[in-house]
This record gives sequence, structure tokens and C-alpha cells, in this order.
Amino acid sequence: MTTTEVATVNETNHVAEKAPKRTREEIQERIARLQLLEHRLALADKSLRENGFSPALADFMLEGETLLWPRPTEEQVAIHEELRTNLASLSNDATITPCWSEFSAKLQKLAATEPIEDFLQWTDYLSIREHDGAYRLWHAIRKHPEWKRWEKLARRVPWGNAHPLCLVRNGDPGVVATSNVHHEMRFEGAIGERFWENLDVVFEFGGGFGNACRMFREDGFRGSHVVLDQPVVREFQRAFLRLCGISVTTNVKLIDGCSLLTERDIPALIDLLRGKRVGFLATWSLSEAPLELRAKLFPALHPCCCKYLIAAQWPSHQREPHISNERYFTQFMQESGGAEFKIENEFHDVNWRKYLFGVRRP
Ligand SMILES: C[S@@+](CC[C@H](N)C(=O)[O-])C[C@H]1O[C@@H](n2cnc3c(N)ncnc32)[C@H](O)[C@@H]1O
Repeated sequence: MTTTEVATVNETNHVAEKAPKRTREEIQERIARLQLLEHRLALADKSLRENGFSPALADFMLEGETLLWPRPTEEQVAIHEELRTNLASLSNDATITPCWSEFSAKLQKLAATEPIEDFLQWTDYLSIREHDGAYRLWHAIRKHPEWKRWEKLARRVPWGNAHPLCLVRNGDPGVVATSNVHHEMRFEGAIGERFWENLDVVFEFGGGFGNACRMFREDGFRGSHVVLDQPVVREFQRAFLRLCGISVTTNVKLIDGCSLLTERDIPALIDLLRGKRVGFLATWSLSEAPLELRAKLFPALHPCCCKYLIAAQWPSHQREPHISNERYFTQFMQESGGAEFKIENEFHDVNWRKYLFGVRRP
């Protein structure tokens, strides 16, 4: 491979001093990918004119656009391979519902056969596919005065190939990223400040593929983010966050990055968080966990929590009707020791999806 370097030229034809230098091969490869993209767009355009719009066409175009994403480096390829290897060898010893036990086993199985670099495309369990609700969230954030900030935070990153909102052409928002942005926007509307502001630690229960951590850091948070999740899902967070360039550890300690912990770390975590200013984040997660696991965390953690951002199925999760989230969270709020809570519907006309926003004022 030749190492000849070619300076990148910006639009006004001045040599951009700070632009990354690319090798001749990289530029040739990019040109080849642009030509392929052009070809795909011509096909899509023809099909649109002849057959009209179809979701398959939107998928086809988006797939084409991913051709513009950067190719993984050797280090990033190694992260993908580590994900596959780790998933194959894990035993999921978490206290989880039968439903999550089944989902996680499926994720492990798919890791053996599916394209590993598309690890957020295989199923709906971690990276949700588009749905009507996601478009409602998108339209809500579009109407907000801070729309430009939200648009940036909702943008997909090139790792894992998370599900996009296919019908939104500008900004390339992800479905989960849009939902994470909406949580933050509504929290700020209810409480009057950013969730991560004035915190030492964001403690998140059930982090999905890790996007909330990425989003807060992109928005400016530089404290510690701790995620507690089941071992299988932790592997997705580990891969995704590392691919995003965020430092991770699986030790019970606070870092400028993300600590990825599991149930067995809870006693040490409670000690670690004592005396810290903690924001508790649990969107569609604590409400999906067995009560015995929730009891290992709360009320013990309340004294250090100064903010709460929770989304919960109400009064129960459809798949776990015997567990009353309404009863659990009512008691949770009473036991918080003086935090102020607001309960709001995610959508004004849907009663079974609730936000609980809380703050402990000094
Ligand atoms: C529906 S996903 C929500 C992910 C993310 N919070 C979001 O809003 O996109 C539920 C999350 O909770 C985690 N979770 C569910 N039950 C759990 C348990 N018993 N212990 C630890 N994590 C659990 C899942 O692994 C997953 O990360």
C-alpha cells in the first residue's frame, strides 16, 4: 500500500489545514463508493417514477447512503469480532423476566450468523424499527425551539447500523436516538434544566445499546455514566460505546466515560455512589425488571439521587401484567425522601406510557 498523502481540498478550493489527510487508496475507495451510491440512487429514482414510493425503496436508499459511512479501522474490526466472541461464550445469569431471557438468548444466537458490523439491525429488542410513535416523537422535537440541538443529537452514528426513521431525509435520525432526545427534551420542559447538568454521575438502569450515554456526552456531559444491565446486553453497549470512541470499564469505578456493570456489582455500586450527585435514568427498563432486582437498588439509592428521568409502562407492562408499575413507582416516589415528581404521558392521548420526572431541590 502506498503511503502517498493527498491534501483534502475544501469547497472554496483552499487547502483545508485541519482536514484529515487521506491516502490515495482511501480517496480511490471513496470515489468507488460514491459511484456505487450514484448508481443506486439512479435505480431508486427510476423505481420511484415507475412504481411510486414504497418502504422497500426507502430502505434501499438508506442502505445505499451507508456506503458513505467510514470503513471500520483495524481496531474497530477487532471490537466487532470481540462482540461476537464474547456473546458466544456468555451465560446470562441475571435476574430477568422470561421475556428478556428469551430476547437475550436470541441475540446470542443471531450473533453467530448475522453480519456483526450490523449488530443493531438484527432485531427490535435493542434498536427498535420505525413505528408511528417514533414519527410523533420526531414531530414533537421538530416543533421545539431548540430543534437544531435535538436534530444533531438524534443523528445516527455509523456504528451498528441502528434503525433509521426512513421517511425523514434530512439529519438521518435513528429511532432510538429520537426517543432518547425526546426524553431529554421533556425532562427539561418539566424540570427546567438539563438532566446531566450539576451531576457527578448519571446512573442508568437498562441502557439498551448505550445511546443515552453517547447523547449526553455529545451534548456536553463529562462526568461518569454508569449503566447497569444484563451481561448479554452489556456486550452491545461495550462495542457501541468503544466504536464511538468513549472509554468504558467493567470495574466498579467512576471514569470519564462509561462503567458497564451487572447485578452482582450492585452492593459495591451503592457504596461508590454514596455522597455523589447522581441522576437516575431508566427509560422502559426498570419497569421491565423483576421486583426483586428493583429492591436491590431502591430505596437504598434514593439519598444520592438528585434527579430522576424514568419512562414506564403503566399501570403494568403488557407482558408482565402481574407486576404493577403503578404501585411500585407510587411507593418509589414516596420513599424518595422529598424529591418532587411530575408524572406526564409520553403522548397526551396515550395513557399507558408515562414519564416520571423528579428533582431534589436543595
Ligand atoms: C426496552 S430496552 C430500553 C433501553 C433504553 N433505556 C431505551 O430507552 O432505549 C430495556 C433495557 O432494560 C434492560 N433490562 C431489562 N430487564 C433487565 C434486568 N432484569 N436487569 C438488567 N437490565 C434489564 C435491557 O437489557 C435493556 O437494556
